Amino acid sequence: MTNLQQAIKLPVFEKISSYCKENNIECYVVGGYVRDFLLKRKSKDIDVLVLGNGIEIAKNIARSLDEKIQVTVFNTFGTAYFKYKDFEIEFVGARKESYSSNSRNPIVESGTFKEDIDRRDFKINSMAISLHPKSFGDLIDLHNGLDDLENCVINTPLDAVITFSDDPLRMLRAIRFASQLNFSVSEKLIRIINELKSRIEIVTNERIVDELNKILLSDTPSIGFNLLEKTGLLDFILPEITNLKGIDEIEGQKHKDNFYHTLEVLDNICKSTENLWLRWAALLHDIGKAPTKKFDKKIGWTFHGHEFEGSKMVYKLFKRLKMPLNEKMKYVQKLVLMSSRPIVLAQNNVTDSAVRRLIFDASDAVDDLMTLCEADITTKNKSRFKRYHENFRLVREKIIKVEEKDNIRNFQPPITGAEIMKTFNLKPCKTIGSIKESIKEAILEGDIENNYEEAFKLMIKEGEKLGLSDGK
Ligand code: CTP
Repeated sequence: MTNLQQAIKLPVFEKISSYCKENNIECYVVGGYVRDFLLKRKSKDIDVLVLGNGIEIAKNIARSLDEKIQVTVFNTFGTAYFKYKDFEIEFVGARKESYSSNSRNPIVESGTFKEDIDRRDFKINSMAISLHPKSFGDLIDLHNGLDDLENCVINTPLDAVITFSDDPLRMLRAIRFASQLNFSVSEKLIRIINELKSRIEIVTNERIVDELNKILLSDTPSIGFNLLEKTGLLDFILPEITNLKGIDEIEGQKHKDNFYHTLEVLDNICKSTENLWLRWAALLHDIGKAPTKKFDKKIGWTFHGHEFEGSKMVYKLFKRLKMPLNEKMKYVQKLVLMSSRPIVLAQNNVTDSAVRRLIFDASDAVDDLMTLCEADITTKNKSRFKRYHENFRLVREKIIKVEEKDNIRNFQPPITGAEIMKTFNLKPCKTIGSIKESIKEAILEGDIENNYEEAFKLMIKEGEKLGLSDGK
């Protein structure tokens, strides 16, 4: 038997162990903590399985560790957890769990150790380490999870139809673990997910988005998205992405497969950023291409306005999945809307005013926008690849220079509306907005510098043109 004393060499495990000895309770560390220890991955979440009342035991152990620890109890699930030092420790009584076919909540009924282990999602998550003093550190691996860890594959402990019917989210979890751990999902599982995929509809959006975020935060999200596509789940969750699949050909003219292109862009961006929302922007940057696709006899395939269409679709998609509709969504929308802007700049001899307008429109997202555009370079032509990157490097340099000089990011008009009103003795009216707009345009064009003195002079000139008197 493998001994994993090293995995549980923490005072908290000794406390749990001695509590269980005194009270004659069997208890084990299970699930993700064991899996991650064996994979040499750091884990701060510890799941403790006890043969008894998990909530009561959690409260007693928390008290014996420190009187001040707050225990959070989930009565519906019969679980309780508390934070201790760096760890979050969750206690659950062994149960034979069953879910009614259309409910999202389990019916909790206490069970044996084996019954509890059997009803877990994957073999790699079904391993346990004993905390009982007599067998402290022994690995109990009823379903050969170790073999799956070695072979980098995901399988279910029971017939997958039972495991997935118990909780359809597990279909998505299988794919999420594959993406996070760079594992494969067994062919049998893929087939069964394909059969059961529509059952994902009973799962709450919140749980689905949680898994999608974890796939997006993995090193190579294309592993997850390819599997989502292969199993048919993607159609239920993000049809906007499956709609990008395929290559049309008319009169010998083809366009690229925007689904695979998107996955390439996504994997690329993951090499440069951990920012979840920038990764979402990479995933969604081309979604407007499906509804805007047209064939023009003269110029071939076009996707006119796909950025604008795409940014509208971002809102609908976030709303449907009950994702935040706050500044995160607006950030993703902005990146999708502006995703082609730097490309145009990189192709021309870029002027200062074009760069100023880019900074003005993108504001704080300008660096992320550049990162997205660099990730968007997926050409297999080496010299083109080099040239595009070089062009973007020049645009980035120019952004820094223009910024130092002109301070355009988070642009604040140097002359306020109140000052315009005071100078020309005006009541609120359209003229104020039009003078402000002329000042902003002159700054962005580079006709005047972004400072109070130059803006003031221009304001007087604009006023004169409009026949206004400054009272002097
Ligand atoms: N589990 C399960 N079915 C689920 C969710 C969880 O069987 N739908 C079991 C698995 O044994 C899992 C454990 O509960 O290992 C803990 O679940 P969770 O914390 O969600 O997953 P971890 O495996 O800990 O992985 P991560 O923290 O990355 O989500």
